[in-house]
Amino acid sequence: MVGKYLKFFVLAAALCLPALSSSLSATDGEETTYVNKIGKIFSLHMQSIEQLMAEKSPFSENVVRHALGLLETASMLNHAVSVAKQKSPDSTWPWKDDADYERLFAANTKAVRELIKVAGIWLEGGEKAPVMQAVEGVKKTCNNCH
Ligand code: HEC
Repeated sequence: MVGKYLKFFVLAAALCLPALSSSLSATDGEETTYVNKIGKIFSLHMQSIEQLMAEKSPFSENVVRHALGLLETASMLNHAVSVAKQKSPDSTWPWKDDADYERLFAANTKAVRELIKVAGIWLEGGEKAPVMQAVEGVKKTCNNCH
């Protein structure tokens, strides 16, 4: 009988703990943790593009998909930043004000669009140099924020 209750208690505790710890972690740091994940996704797309461009690869055509992924990632960043701003208006970000953020974000999107364009041309037999140049262009816009 006691064994039965004990088992129930252990099960209940096991079910409650994950819920408890996730509600405890929903503090001010939540936004930063999430935005950092988006940053890592950005990085992985860039690293993948650089790897696939380094030499001919059976995965080459994914360069365009990773470039499209950068565009999607930027849109995730945009959304996360706007939600975080409402949740914690006082959090510190690497830009001066909204106008500064818009400028950094627009520069990134523009550079990524250029990369998508030249990567598509490269895949169809075009030059590699414009793609490498566009990758550097995107990197500059990352570094403007960091
Ligand atoms: C509009 C600004 C902006 C742009 C553009 C941007 N980031 Fe970020 N990134 C951030 C912010 C904000 C953070 C969260 C940390 C902070 O506050 O600096 C972040 C975090 C990161 C992190 C940190 C992850 C960690 O766990 O420490 C990496 C890596 C990163 N970004 C890579 C990139 C790369 C690569 C690009 C370009 C493809 C990029 N970012 C473009 C604003 C930006």
